[in-house]
Parts: sequence; structure tokens; C-alpha cells
Amino acid sequence: MVIVYESKTGFTKRYADMLALKTRLKVFPVKELSKVSKDEEIIFLGWMKAGKIQGLDKLRNYNVKAVCGSGTGRTAEPSVEAVVARNKVEGLPFFYIRGGCYPIKELKGMDRILLSMFLKMLKNRKDKDENIEEAIKHIEGGFDGVKEENLLPVLEWLKCNTEL
Ligand SMILES: Cc1cc2nc3c(=O)[nH]c(=O)nc-3n(C[C@H](O)[C@H](O)[C@H](O)COP(=O)(O)O)c2cc1C
Repeated sequence: MVIVYESKTGFTKRYADMLALKTRLKVFPVKELSKVSKDEEIIFLGWMKAGKIQGLDKLRNYNVKAVCGSGTGRTAEPSVEAVVARNKVEGLPFFYIRGGCYPIKELKGMDRILLSMFLKMLKNRKDKDENIEEAIKHIEGGFDGVKEENLLPVLEWLKCNTEL
């Protein structure tokens, strides 16, 4: 088993490196996927954009055994069920891991445009609960939710399902 990840701003990479350190599994970014053999078992970690796990499509012909999606919220956005369906990973173990984000003013290009639209939508909502208020605060001010303990379910799964 090896770890493969896709990370844009580094939060998911930190989880991938942390997991590698804890398990001694080798770790590869998607851009080095050619170094991984097609039959090697893979645990994949990717950042999520509009519910889509980035980088995962490039692994369709690989032996992916489990998938982790990183987002900024307390729980997966829009929901674990929607993420699993949108990414066609039904039947594979899926783990949501809380990553983080830089303040929106530090983002560039399409990501900034998309996130500005999302922020506007959140701000316009009449039914703002604690989670929505928190999301607005994090998008505007940035947030780092990376914690070792967030990997515990992943480590547990690896222990039960691999030769670690
Ligand atoms: C344009 C954009 C769209 C995003 N969409 C989602 C989303 O649909 N669901 C979610 O949970 N997080 C979403 N996020 C949050 C990121 O997935 C999160 O910040 C992630 O931890 C970043 O990982 P990285 O630093 O490895 O790139 C989005 C972030 C951006 C910039």
C-alpha cells in the first residue's frame, strides 16, 4: 500500500506526510503517479472543491482501496453521501478529514471567484446557524484544522485492512 495525494495549498499534503510518518508507507503526489504501479494498493487523499475530490479522476485505472477528502468545515460539504455519490466512490471506505484554508484575499484565479460566490451565498442565507457563521469566518480570515487525531479513523482502518 502507498499513499497518493492531491493538495493545492498544503493542508492535505500535511495529512499525507503525517500518515506516511505514522505508517511508514511511501507517499506520492498525483503528479508523480507514474512512479506507482497499477496494481499497487493505494490510499488516496485529496482536497475537495465543490464536492469533488481533486485528483481522484487520474487514479481511475489504479488500485484505490480507500479515499480521504479534505475540506474546511466540521463535516464534509455538502455531505458525506453527496461527496461519495459525486465522486463515484460507493463501496470504498471514505474518510472526511478537516483541512484548512488561507484567507480568501490570498487566493487567486478561479478558486477565488468560486469561493467568493460561495461566501456571498452563505452571507445571504436567512437561516445562518453556528456552522454557517463559522464557515464565513474561516473563509474570510483563514483557518488551520489539521490535527493528528483527525487521522485516527484512517489509521484504524489501515490497521484492520492492511499488513501494517
Ligand atoms: C474554490 C474552493 C471550493 C471548495 N469547495 C469545498 C467543498 O465543496 N467541500 C469542502 O468540504 N471543502 C471545500 N473547500 C475547502 C478545501 O477543500 C479545503 O480548504 C482543503 O483542506 C484545502 O486543501 P489543500 O490545502 O490541500 O489544497 C473548497 C475550497 C476552495 C478554495
